[in-house]
Amino acid sequence: MERYAVIGDPVTHSLSPVIHAWFAAQTGKEIHYRQLNVAAADFEVAVREFRQAGGCGLNVTVPHKEAALGLAERIMPHARAAGAANWLSFGEDAVVAGNTDGSGLVRDLTETLDLDLSGMRILLLGAGGAARGILGPLLTCAPQYLTVANRTPERAHALVASYDASANLAACGLEDLGDTSFDLILNATAAGLSDSPMSLPASILDAERTVCYDLMYGADTAFLAWARQTDCTRVCDGLGMLVEQAAESFELWHGVHPDTGPVRDRLRSATKPCTA
Ligand code: ATR
Repeated sequence: MERYAVIGDPVTHSLSPVIHAWFAAQTGKEIHYRQLNVAAADFEVAVREFRQAGGCGLNVTVPHKEAALGLAERIMPHARAAGAANWLSFGEDAVVAGNTDGSGLVRDLTETLDLDLSGMRILLLGAGGAARGILGPLLTCAPQYLTVANRTPERAHALVASYDASANLAACGLEDLGDTSFDLILNATAAGLSDSPMSLPASILDAERTVCYDLMYGADTAFLAWARQTDCTRVCDGLGMLVEQAAESFELWHGVHPDTGPVRDRLRSATKPCTA
């Protein structure tokens, strides 16, 4: 039986094993998929041992995404642009690294939420690894413009500088927001769970029209709390992105794209609902 795993630290909370098991059952694949809790210092050895024991591929999560790129002999374009990989495949001749985070997010936005990103005014909050992972795929959807805003403005400017100047891309600090409203606001900061809402100006959203989307899932974040406080009616967590990035990984390994709707519904009924 083909063997796969998700590798991270910590990884016990990961939903990847159950998602991949459901995808496999749905598509008639026989796979074994488990969790590997591996500290950063042991990552390379753990990957080598997994591969030598016949492992076919790994999903990679925090804190190993950058290190995973360093192990690859072939790097797919989204992983190269992101500077990080969440997917490894151990073929006979090469270790291949990919990144399905951005394509999974785009699929959730365009297919599940039925958004047409072309011509949209998009605000991306954050300029760390999570933001870097999704920026390239978002730009391929041709938004009207995309602004990256970060607590430390220099990091937003550095991220934007690595892209083509013609990409309708701008950078600023969180403090500089307020003059313009956006159609879609994506939270890729690690501000995370919080009792108090994020401090953002209400003028950046139109309560009836703007979609507020947090890449995190499972509980109310400071960003989602802010969106609800400003009476935003279209608020969404990242559970759909989680399922879609897993589906993209599954397709890269197995050549078939699973039906994500039933899997998302099952997980949604088991986790705290964060979609309005
Ligand atoms: P990740 O891989 O999750 O993106 P990261 O690379 O450490 O983690 O980046 C964390 C991001 O969340 C950064 O954009 C960070 O802003 P800074 O660059 O100013 O540090 C942002 N962040 C973390 N905590 C935050 C908070 N309380 N409010 C706003 N932004 C926050």
